[in-house]
Amino acid sequence: MKSITEKFGKTPHQPSLWTRADALKVRADDPTTTQPLVSADFPVLSDKVFIWDTMPLRDIDGNITSVDGWSVIFTLTADRHPTDPQYLDQNGNYDITRDWNDRHGRAKMYYWFSRTGKDWKLGGRVMAEGVSPTVREWAGTPILLNKQGEVDLYYTAVTPGATIVKVRGRVVTTEHGVSLVGFEKVKPLFEADGKMYQTEAQNAFWGFRDPWPFRDPKDGKLYMLFEGNVAGERGSHTVGKAEIGDVPPGYEDVGNSRFQTACVGIAVARDEDGDDWEMLPPLLTAVGVNDQTERPHFVFQDGKYYLFTISHTFTYADGVTGPDGVYGFVADSLFGPYVPLNGSGLVLGNPSSQPFQTYSHCVMPNGLVTSFIDSVPTGESGTTMRIGGTEAPTVGIKIKGQQTFVVAEYDYGYIPPMLDVTLK
Ligand code: FRU
Repeated sequence: MKSITEKFGKTPHQPSLWTRADALKVRADDPTTTQPLVSADFPVLSDKVFIWDTMPLRDIDGNITSVDGWSVIFTLTADRHPTDPQYLDQNGNYDITRDWNDRHGRAKMYYWFSRTGKDWKLGGRVMAEGVSPTVREWAGTPILLNKQGEVDLYYTAVTPGATIVKVRGRVVTTEHGVSLVGFEKVKPLFEADGKMYQTEAQNAFWGFRDPWPFRDPKDGKLYMLFEGNVAGERGSHTVGKAEIGDVPPGYEDVGNSRFQTACVGIAVARDEDGDDWEMLPPLLTAVGVNDQTERPHFVFQDGKYYLFTISHTFTYADGVTGPDGVYGFVADSLFGPYVPLNGSGLVLGNPSSQPFQTYSHCVMPNGLVTSFIDSVPTGESGTTMRIGGTEAPTVGIKIKGQQTFVVAEYDYGYIPPMLDVTLK
């Protein structure tokens, strides 16, 4: 299997590489890139459902948008089963950890609304049962299209397969709340091609998901980011000089890191409606470094492209590691080259004392970072965990050149609008 440079050498752009040398600079618990401790006495949004990935309604330029003064968020959601015999342990107690860990298999898209950018009220499911073509409704992005309230929800239809899809509906407001209507016809857009992006046939653990459409502020064209893995049979990738980077003596051994092949994918729309897409080579690859670069998204600031993506400790390759959290890269133009923020890429990681406290961070253009609570240690020993399935406190970061700094903490699930659209 060819190295990244050989593989994509003749294409219009070269993917930027997150190298093993970059990742060696990751420092857990640096206060400027660590999320404040989440207390175990957090409130939960709902005792009926778990929520995790949160997708604020926004416009195609990335601005978080309220409608008629109502903020709207979409969440991956699954029922909690406190009385279901399937989730009771031998003593008849609810095994919430097992219920939580099983959630991905029954993920559905729900929406919530609020007047205050927090204290979210449950709106319900976005699509009725049977509308989405697969079992799982995985992450994506809701885009407010116009003043008529039309919304394109891009998301991932998973099991069987993994297809980037979209469904169009409408947001309707009254003085009492928000409802979503329509969302009845799901349109498949594209799947991994096996040439640039790995397919399920090439690797049963492949990732192909999390669409994030946007308009390039410089060229005005419609593009979409997504999570992928670099194409090729599992185990066939090369971790060569370029992927290793400039490491100190003694750090040349890459172990089994050829199994970690994450990338940030990009596609360009052939039409203005975003119904017809062409996949392009990845913007960024992490071969030999990490196996997942999830929910990639941009903040456009100071004429630069700030690319953010979430990743886990458990998906790092042999010999490199870092906390669960959000990582970032910056470039002067859309197709790079991208440089890791803070030298390493780490922007906001969990503290090592609470490694699973939050995940699925989304950096908004106002510097606010939303995420969900996964699990927080409780009690003196810290061996018992309280499962979250709810919104984490929002964190404020400052983005300055090639650096970022944690500067503030806000309320749970605080996602204020950046602009309000009055519907016609
Ligand atoms: C991130 C994520 C997404 C995926 C979803 C599945 O938390 O893994 O990449 O769409 O969760 O539940």
